[in-house]
Amino acid sequence: MKTRIVQVDENNIDRKAVREAGEIIRRGGLVAFPTETVYGLGGDALNPASSRKIYEAKGRPSDNPLIVHIAEWEALAALVKKVPEEAVKLAEAFWPGPLTMILEKSDLVPRETTGGLDTVAVRMPSHKTALAFIRAAGGYVAAPSANRSGRPSPTVAKYVVQDLDGRIDMILDGGDVELGLESTIVDLTDRAPIILRPGYITRQMLEKVLGRVEEDVTILRDDSGQAPKAPGMKYRHYAPKGELMIVSGPEEKVADYINVQLDLWRSKNKKTGVIATDATINTYRADVCKSAGSRLDESSIGRKLYRILREFDDESVEIIYSESFEGAGVGQAVMNRLLKAAGHRVTELK
Ligand code: TXA
Ligand code: MG
Repeated sequence: MKTRIVQVDENNIDRKAVREAGEIIRRGGLVAFPTETVYGLGGDALNPASSRKIYEAKGRPSDNPLIVHIAEWEALAALVKKVPEEAVKLAEAFWPGPLTMILEKSDLVPRETTGGLDTVAVRMPSHKTALAFIRAAGGYVAAPSANRSGRPSPTVAKYVVQDLDGRIDMILDGGDVELGLESTIVDLTDRAPIILRPGYITRQMLEKVLGRVEEDVTILRDDSGQAPKAPGMKYRHYAPKGELMIVSGPEEKVADYINVQLDLWRSKNKKTGVIATDATINTYRADVCKSAGSRLDESSIGRKLYRILREFDDESVEIIYSESFEGAGVGQAVMNRLLKAAGHRVTELK
C-alpha cells in the first residue's frame, strides 16, 4: 500500500486534505493524524473491520482496547449506556483536551473496538486538525497512538512514517505535537473514579472537579504481579531499541554511578547514552547525552521524552541510563512512561 503524506496546518485547516482523510475513514481505511498529545492512528470506531485493521497495522494484541475520539459533546450519548454526572463535570472542565473517560459502552460500539470489553474509552481532543478530521470521518474515530506496538508514541510525523509507512492509507503531518505524552485515562465505571494512566490532567486537577479520585496501583509499581485496569498498560511499552535503565537518588551519587557503568559498557565497545537534565548534562561520559530539560519544568520533560527515546534509536545507542523524574504532577506521568520503557529496571542509590 502506498501511504499518502499531506502537510496540514492547525491554524489554516486544509479542507481538501481533511475531507479526503475523512472519506478514507468512511470507506474503512486508516489515517494517522496529529492530536495535542501524540499522533493517533485513526479508523472508523463503529466498523469492526476498521478496528481489526488498526490492530494489524500496529502489530497490537487485539485484547488492548482503542480510544474512541469525538468532536462534539453530543456524540458521546450514542457511545455509552448512560452519561454519569461525573462525565458531565469532567467534560465541562477538560474537554476538548488530554483526558480520556472510560464508560459503559452502548450496543453501537463493536467489541472489536473495545478489545472485547463492555466499557469504552472516549476522548475529545483539542487539536483543530484532529477535530476537523473526526467530523469529516463521521464523528467516531478509534485511534491508538500511531506507533508500532511497544515503541514510543510518535510526537512528530517522521516517526509515524518510520513505523507505519506502507501499512496505512494516509498521514496528516501537522508538525510537532504540543504535549508529547498520551492523555490521562480516568475510569468512571468503578465505585469511585480511578486514574488508569497519568497525564497532563493530574490527580489534583481531577479532584478539584470530582472530589476524591483513586489511582491504579500499577501506575508507578512493577505491574508483573497485578494486572493493570487499562489492558494496554500491562505491555512493555514506549521502549527504545537499546537497553534502558533508570538510576534514582542524590544527584551527585547518580552521576558517579552512571559514569562508572558507562565506562564499563564503553570498554565492551557498546554505544552509550544518558537522559540527563539541563543542570547535569555536562557531567556524563556517554557517547550521546540528551537533556530532557529543566527539572523545574516537568511539562517540558514530558514534551521531550518520546522524542529522546526515538533519537537514541536513530543514533543506534545500545545502552541508555536515565535519571529519575519523580514528581506529583506531570512528573508522575513522565515517570510512569519511563518505568515502562525501562521494563521497571531501576537502581536506587541511598
Ligand atoms: O492521548 C491519547 O490518548 C492518544 C491519542 C492518539 O489520543 N491515544 C492513545 O491510545 O494513547 P492508546 O491506544 O495508545 O492507549 C489507550 C490506552 C491503552 O492502555 C488501553 O488499554 C486503554 O487506553 N483503554 C482503552 N479502552 C479501555 C477500556 N475500555 N478500559 C480500560 N482501558 C482502556
Ligand atoms: Mg499507545
